[in-house]
Amino acid sequence: MARGEVGRGPGSAAYERRKMHTMMPGASRLLLVRRREVPSAIVSGFMPSVLDRIHSSDTGLAIWRRFTRLNLLVSASTLLTRPPFTLTIADAPEMAARRLCHDLLLFHWALYADFRRLATRFSTLAASPVVRMRLEHVTDDSCGKFHVDAVGLRLLCTYVGPGTEWVDPGGKIRRMTTMEVAVFKGSAFPGAGPRVLHRSPPLSTGTLVGQSRLVLCIDAVP
Ligand SMILES: [Fe+2]
Repeated sequence: MARGEVGRGPGSAAYERRKMHTMMPGASRLLLVRRREVPSAIVSGFMPSVLDRIHSSDTGLAIWRRFTRLNLLVSASTLLTRPPFTLTIADAPEMAARRLCHDLLLFHWALYADFRRLATRFSTLAASPVVRMRLEHVTDDSCGKFHVDAVGLRLLCTYVGPGTEWVDPGGKIRRMTTMEVAVFKGSAFPGAGPRVLHRSPPLSTGTLVGQSRLVLCIDAVP
């Protein structure tokens, strides 16, 4: 999938390029030239390696698109039967994942395996041997205003409930789906380049009232 394409339905870059290609020969090449003039800040793909592209100078957000896995969803959903909580652990990736799961009432092997995998990948991405993992049961708007985080890189994954919302280059608000993994470039990341505004989805108003989320956030520890 080309840089910046976040969907294939009407309105997506892929859809428009296919439509242009059908309408007039050579149109897709013209569109590609125009796209180069306005670099997109978002990359997405179905392989975890897409997250590595966050280090490109013209990328502000990398999204690993992955589908909901039932074993993860079941384990994560059981945690939402508890009152809202926040657990934070800073350690080497594998130990951080293990300690995080030990702090849950029941050790969920599926969650542990996924936490460990994400923490290990993020540790490599951020060149940080120690990571800070924060697991939250969120029932409010949390970070409800669009913002850029004051960190270098940040990984976010919502296991249950509506995912993080972000603003695409066209100004449209998009929402991550459950289990998708995002790495955002923050204001402390060295160098210039795009930063992608994002926020927690509003749970106090609109169509999401009453919903809960289980969110994992991973940062580097200097
Ligand atoms: Fe944020």
